[in-house]
Amino acid sequence: MTTTALPDTLCHLNGETLPLRDAKISVLDRGFIFGDGIYEVIPVYGRRCFRFDEHMARLARSLDKLRIPNPHSRDGWLALVRELVAAQPADDQLVYIEITRGVALRDHVMPVGITPTVFAMTSPMKPPSAEQRHHGVACVTARDFRWERGDIKSVSLLGNVLARQISADHGALETVMFRDGWLTEASGSNVWVVHEGALLGPPKSGHVLEGIRYDLLAELCAEVGIAYNLRPISESDVRAADELILTSATKEVLPVTRLDGEPVGHGALRGKPGPVYARLYEAYQRAKLEQSI
Ligand code: PDD
Repeated sequence: MTTTALPDTLCHLNGETLPLRDAKISVLDRGFIFGDGIYEVIPVYGRRCFRFDEHMARLARSLDKLRIPNPHSRDGWLALVRELVAAQPADDQLVYIEITRGVALRDHVMPVGITPTVFAMTSPMKPPSAEQRHHGVACVTARDFRWERGDIKSVSLLGNVLARQISADHGALETVMFRDGWLTEASGSNVWVVHEGALLGPPKSGHVLEGIRYDLLAELCAEVGIAYNLRPISESDVRAADELILTSATKEVLPVTRLDGEPVGHGALRGKPGPVYARLYEAYQRAKLEQSI
């Protein structure tokens, strides 16, 4: 996208509301120089934020890990986000918040006493297509070559960008990654395996971003009577899965029906979205209505 094509929708930058195309930051911003910052992506349905408090809790955890002070209270964030959401024409949106350590002369050591840069924008939600839901999506696999602080929702996303491009180059939607033969996550999503009717996910660790859908799926599974278990998942478990599912703010829950060109699953459901996905998708749609503020 060229600069002239930037939309004129309103964004938030350091206390000001202004058109996105006019928002500018310093070249010495540590987000630009070092990738020294964090972000959040919050889904908005019918102009209401889904799992807002969970997103705010993760934002606070990421900031704490980087020793960046949280520039706003929970209510301050909500007011800021609601103002942006109200200014957008679409009812369903995706809010992006970024906080960097701020502007300072280049030095790796964390400077003290500088003011964090705060940026937020919102765009129309682009949910998966009906075709993707109906047939499922294709993924490829790769070695997880990223760092060991994947628990921080950091804007330093080069590893994820390189990983995502592997699937893009193969015409696939995501790159499912293994570290030492164990499932971690995908370039921009968490990955779930269905085995004998149970939903399995990798344990929370520095190798995985704890998606907001981690705890949400635990709640939905309890609600609809699906066993939920976090445990190490081997590459062969993934390749032998009954179902494979991706989750993220944008993908919600999405079935993976081809992995490295092979159909996922067994018997009549081979290469087709499975029943655990279908039940979780339905429960997810209910939760969106009930849990958005
Ligand atoms: N990505 N793992 C990674 C590496 C991610 O980037 C994401 C989300 C997730 C899922 O987290 P959540 O359920 O909170 O969306 C897991 C966002 C949407 C993005 O970068 O655009």
